[in-house]
Amino acid sequence: MTQVALVTGAARGIGAATVRGLAAAGWHVLAVDRCADDPDLPYPLATRADLDRVAAEASAVFRAAPASATPPATTAAGAPRGGDRTPDGPAVLAVAADVRDPDAMAAAVAHAELLWGGLDAALAVAGVIAGGVPLWEMPAAQQQAVIDIDLGGVLTLARVAIPALLRRPEPRQGRFLAVASAAATRGLPMLAAYCAAKAGVAGLTRALAVELRGTGVTANAVSPGSTDTPILAESARLYGLASAQDFASQQPLDRLLRPEEVAAALIWLASEASSAMTGAVVPVDGGLAL
Ligand SMILES: NC(=O)c1ccc[n+]([C@@H]2O[C@H](COP(=O)([O-])OP(=O)(O)OC[C@H]3O[C@@H](n4cnc5c(N)ncnc54)[C@H](O)[C@@H]3O)[C@@H](O)[C@H]2O)c1
Repeated sequence: MTQVALVTGAARGIGAATVRGLAAAGWHVLAVDRCADDPDLPYPLATRADLDRVAAEASAVFRAAPASATPPATTAAGAPRGGDRTPDGPAVLAVAADVRDPDAMAAAVAHAELLWGGLDAALAVAGVIAGGVPLWEMPAAQQQAVIDIDLGGVLTLARVAIPALLRRPEPRQGRFLAVASAAATRGLPMLAAYCAAKAGVAGLTRALAVELRGTGVTANAVSPGSTDTPILAESARLYGLASAQDFASQQPLDRLLRPEEVAAALIWLASEASSAMTGAVVPVDGGLAL
């Protein structure tokens, strides 16, 4: 049986690269994004057209991928995981939903289970940024959006997706993955709410790992450094920088990361190869946190 993932924030940036990479590795993917601007945030989010384009590209790479790209048909314990790649039906499905909406997220999980027979990985990638002023000057609505999306959205996905991961028969290899940030461990001025939310994601990841003891489902996170996506462009604007490129020199790699480089870590964490890891918050940051 082809493995099944749900990815939030799928319409662009790190989420889109993750959807494409998972599909190339032989996964079915339910690609979720808000697909609309947020009235509380001053920069554009992704559109329905962005999400549909990612789903079409990912479907094409899924269809083109050799059958050998499909993960091995046995678990680490040697038990069968099922049959062949799904011959018909969508390889990757785009769904517009807001990570703050528990009913919409539960419906997305149910959709994946109905379409492909279950869920093996849930990846909380959606995120927003706001700030640029000291916390006490930040509009309350912006602070609320950052906390509700960057932390609340991960909590919501965990609540609706982990029961689905646990519905897979034992022995299972479920994966709950979240995107935190170097901001989870560094105090970044003018981004206090964002830092608080991302530190919350790291704490949540550790606690879930312990709660999932012995189930075969693991919880891990990655903490990206400065990655060339629209969120980084907005961060540059908030700091009054000419461009996101100005962040490059903060990282020992001395360049911005590409979304595909962060996605590569997520895709590996989603795979059976990460079976020894749980509760880890992995820096994928070009050394930014050093
Ligand atoms: N780019 C970086 O430098 C960087 C660094 C550290 C962490 N991150 C994190 O990586 C993740 C991905 O961000 P990105 O860099 O790809 O930025 P991005 O802005 O390109 O992508 C974020 C995606 O999330 C979607 N989204 C926003 N609010 C949503 C909501 N309420 N419901 C559903 N979808 C929503 C957006 O439409 C967009 O498609 C975020 O969690 C971000 O905080 C990014």
